[in-house]
Amino acid sequence: DASDIEKGTYPHYMLKEIDEQPLVMRKIIQAYQNETGELAIEDSILEAVNAADRIYIVACGTSYHAGLVGKEFLEKTAKIPTEVHVASEFVYNMPLLSEKPLFIFISQSGETADSRAVLVHIKGLGHPALTLTNVAGSTLSREANHTLLLHAGPEIAVASTKAYTAQIAVLAILAAVAGKAKGLEMSFDLIQELGIAANAMEAMTDDKEAFEQIAREYLSVTRNAFFIGRSMDYHVVQEAALKLKEISYIQAEGFAGGELKHGTIALIEDGTPVVAISTQENVNLSIRGNVKEVAARGAYTCIISMKGLEEEGDSYVIPHVNELLSPLVSVVPTQLIAYYAALHRDCDVDKPRNLAKSVTVE
Ligand code: G6P
Repeated sequence: DASDIEKGTYPHYMLKEIDEQPLVMRKIIQAYQNETGELAIEDSILEAVNAADRIYIVACGTSYHAGLVGKEFLEKTAKIPTEVHVASEFVYNMPLLSEKPLFIFISQSGETADSRAVLVHIKGLGHPALTLTNVAGSTLSREANHTLLLHAGPEIAVASTKAYTAQIAVLAILAAVAGKAKGLEMSFDLIQELGIAANAMEAMTDDKEAFEQIAREYLSVTRNAFFIGRSMDYHVVQEAALKLKEISYIQAEGFAGGELKHGTIALIEDGTPVVAISTQENVNLSIRGNVKEVAARGAYTCIISMKGLEEEGDSYVIPHVNELLSPLVSVVPTQLIAYYAALHRDCDVDKPRNLAKSVTVE
């Protein structure tokens, strides 16, 4: 059928979509460049962002995890205080809103009912909303005041991959352009760094055997697995764990490296897989310390580090990219590891049990 043609020579949409990520990065750069080659965003959106005294990001699932990274950009680059909320909890645990809030809804499909419920609610309160979505004309796009498109192309696999990295890239651009509009200069050239990230993604998608091997070694038979990271890497390990859970049914958790010892370390037994990500210089030593703690309790540890921070014995070294943009790159090994783990365990990669691509009930 038509969907088979679109999949081309790929065995699964998920693998195809993982491989498309470098291309998506390049498309996003193009889509957000003006005639003079500078990154640009519609004035009305910049005004809305810079008029806000606080941003509230609302999303579900993988899009929520992209929001966690987006908060770092909005605070560090655009200097706007930002909170990130799981949509389904927002209405019950509604934060005390600031005077001039802006809501950013992140949704691949633009149809998620939990997010829409919040949108309806905050519109009722008279607050402005911006939707980041992959689907032009989707409900969340139509009902918000503003839309930024992800340009990722249709994402078919239930487990989201290219939409996550597209969301992060668009949030980086939004923060950079909004910051610039109010006179804040970035310490690096975002177009150039996004290009470097795209190349790094490509180097890893060309290196699939390495991740198939890690999946085979660490995840073929285990019941559970832990991912640990600090700072930016903490956001990525939460997404890594979700991806693994979704498609391989391995019980997985993403933990802040420093928090593990406050309870969860009790679960570490002989052979429990613990995957650590280390891309941030300021936490490299401390996350490696956490790896030693769990290894001493029998964990089977795997370190994925970034070039420049690597040590002998690391399982994989990802190419060096700007530290702030590292999630774009460090997530790729975890996507591929989840993919191969699911494959080795004979799971239905593109259509995992109990899940839907977009959930239109609350
Ligand atoms: C569903 C999907 C997830 C996705 C979430 C949010 O639960 O299975 O993969 O992350 O919805 O979807 P959205 O389209 O709003 O990003």
